[in-house]
Amino acid sequence: MKIILVIFLIFFNIPCFSKESLIQERITFFKKSEKSLTKISKLLITKNYQEIINEAQFINDWSILIPSFFPEGTQATMTNDSDASSDIWMNFDDFTKKAKETEYYSLQIINSALNNNFDGVKIALKKTSASCTSCHRSFRN
Ligand code: HEC
Repeated sequence: MKIILVIFLIFFNIPCFSKESLIQERITFFKKSEKSLTKISKLLITKNYQEIINEAQFINDWSILIPSFFPEGTQATMTNDSDASSDIWMNFDDFTKKAKETEYYSLQIINSALNNNFDGVKIALKKTSASCTSCHRSFRN
């Protein structure tokens, strides 16, 4: 019986702790992805396609992970640092779809950069950036 209680305590307490760290972690990743966007526009001036690929790869990897960083119960509250709207969990399919758009356009940055396609990178960068804004408009407070 005691063992079961202990197991329950672990299950109920760890998620509380990890919710906070999960929120901090996703905020860090979002900030980093914003930096990557800025870096890519600068790298494009010097046509540093290899570095562009590295930065876009980070955005691509992160966009795939975004939905898994939003378990239920991690919306903005008075006591946490989150700006996540509770609408996310009322429309998780749409939220996931928007993350997929970022995934798609960041992959286009990579593919264009692989072909040294200046205009291609430029357009895909704009579309990636628009996909970020689109999700924020719907799902960030
Ligand atoms: C699928 C939806 C979605 C996509 C796509 C998305 N974001 Fe966000 N973003 C959010 C949500 C929700 C938050 C609030 C997270 C929180 O505070 O818990 C956020 C927060 C942020 C923040 C604020 C972090 C802080 O200081 O609190 C930045 C910066 C950001 N996103 C940049 C980006 C960039 C750049 C992209 C595109 C490459 C992007 N986001 C794509 C949903 C999204």
